[in-house]
Amino acid sequence: MKIAVAGSIATDHLMTFDGRFVDSLVVEQLDKISVSFLADDLQIRRGGVAANICFGMAVLGQHPVLVGAVGEDFADYRSWLERHGVDCESVHVSDTKHTARFVCTTDRDMAQMATFYAGAMAEAREIELGPIAARVGGLALVLIGPDDPVAMLRHTDECRERGIPFAADPSQQLAFADGETIRRLIDGATYLFTNEYESHLTEQKTGWSAADIAERVTTRIITKGKAGALVATRGSEPVEIPVAEVIDAVDPTGVGDAFRAGFLTGLAGGLPHERCAEVGSVLASYVLETVGTQEYHLSTHRFLDRVATAYGPAAAEEIGAHIACEAP
Ligand SMILES: Nc1ncnc2c1ncn2[C@@H]1O[C@H](COP(=O)(O)OP(=O)(O)OP(=O)(O)O)[C@@H](O)[C@H]1O
Ligand SMILES: [Mg+2]
Repeated sequence: MKIAVAGSIATDHLMTFDGRFVDSLVVEQLDKISVSFLADDLQIRRGGVAANICFGMAVLGQHPVLVGAVGEDFADYRSWLERHGVDCESVHVSDTKHTARFVCTTDRDMAQMATFYAGAMAEAREIELGPIAARVGGLALVLIGPDDPVAMLRHTDECRERGIPFAADPSQQLAFADGETIRRLIDGATYLFTNEYESHLTEQKTGWSAADIAERVTTRIITKGKAGALVATRGSEPVEIPVAEVIDAVDPTGVGDAFRAGFLTGLAGGLPHERCAEVGSVLASYVLETVGTQEYHLSTHRFLDRVATAYGPAAAEEIGAHIACEAP
């Protein structure tokens, strides 16, 4: 049985402008604004929540099923993911729209001008999980991450109807979704992932208390940045997992996705939740040390050394039986 990860698939196009936007703006003429900046650097990064999570799982030795919608421009990104072991066969390719893209220019003051083009992502609502489950011989779990909102609801409803366990991971979409939508996205979830801020937002918007959520969600995972993570399973004592050591943090983008990738890898190996969160925390530490969300390199023994340093040799031994990075 496989784990599928549904959600956004996108690229980030990040430019830098070695000047100040404000020097080009005429306040009295903003209604006729037309400005162009000469960027001196362009970085194109692979991203999107579902792609990031699948990449992390694949690098740890899993073959997760990526579920999402892209454009014809996805070819290069597809070969990158497949080369690492991600199953991209169920990715929907739009005939008319490009893959979602975030385009952002940052000036010398770190002021930013950005645009997000959702593009093909809107077609994720056309994806049905049933045929995917049939193709791969059953789905043990589907993570439903931020995506086209109609698609998120459809996947969640389909999981409930077909009795497929699901992990709700609405993150960015919590800001836009209303209470009714959020209630539908999390009710009956086996896992609910949020960071600390999002956990408060979830309670505020749904009107459900922590106790109400505990009645509807089997295991709630709250990540708390450098304060670690909390895993609370109905009927058991909550567990706190401290962070793993980070040698030199350079870019926090994608830590949340890496944590989820590690956690799901632990689940696939049948590890207890505490161990799953430890795998997640260690993977997050690698992402923090690299610029971009899919740029880190792992070897099994270095990964396990880090697990042992943070959580002890017994943890490393248990986890070691379930991960297999490209490099030994
Ligand atoms: N400064 C840090 N040092 C070590 N580990 C960290 C640090 N920040 C985050 N982590 C690890 O990553 C996990 C997820 O972090 P966090 O709660 O910040 O996610 P997030 O807010 O969803 O991040 P994002 O959405 O930006 O990817 C934490 O539970 C922890 O294990
Ligand atoms: Mg997050």
